[in-house]
Amino acid sequence: MKFFVDTADIDAIRELSETGLLDGVTTNPSLIAKSGRDFIDVVTEICGVVEGPVSAEVTALDAPTMIEEGRKLAAIAENIAVKVPLTWDGLKACKALTDEGHMVNVTLCFSANQALLAAKAGATFISPFIGRLDDMHLDGMELIQDIRTIYDNYPEFGTEILAASIRNPNHVKDAALAGADVATVPPAVLKSLVAHPLTDKGLEQFLADWAKTGQKIL
Ligand code: E4P
Repeated sequence: MKFFVDTADIDAIRELSETGLLDGVTTNPSLIAKSGRDFIDVVTEICGVVEGPVSAEVTALDAPTMIEEGRKLAAIAENIAVKVPLTWDGLKACKALTDEGHMVNVTLCFSANQALLAAKAGATFISPFIGRLDDMHLDGMELIQDIRTIYDNYPEFGTEILAASIRNPNHVKDAALAGADVATVPPAVLKSLVAHPLTDKGLEQFLADWAKTGQKIL
């Protein structure tokens, strides 16, 4: 499973990138607004830090303008994945941009049929939003499972399932169990994946016992 971080916070991206475990970044207009920075500047900077796909979202609603915006974003760096919304115009833009050789992430996916359409349109990534479905008392993880089954039924689809709107560590585990190819995770949740009180307790005990031996490795 690949790990993307879902943020436009360059400091958080740098820190996570240093672990060597970061495979990409996703942004959206809300995350760009939260960063308080110029969209093109921040995305350019992110592409300089992370080698993997960096999603940058179009904001037009009609296909021709989405395509134009997508081309501008794709020109920033080779690792840009143009993000388009799951609408008919978004699907048309997806098809046109993938035909031109650009990576496309189709976002705001809330149903298996939408994911089927995105795969037909040649999307590089489909982004089902788990947390926002859970917020409505629906089962976000069931959507990941359904998309996995459908995509596996049609091996000609090359679209990767990018589990998005992840809110907690259980979402990451369950997305991995369901066979998502990628999870895009907020920095705090990504960092929390390593934590377990028994790890801390066990390490403390090992170090206390080691100190009693008076030995050193180096
Ligand atoms: C994914 O690409 C989206 O940016 C993100 O996961 C949305 O998450 P949210 O529902 O927590 O805003």
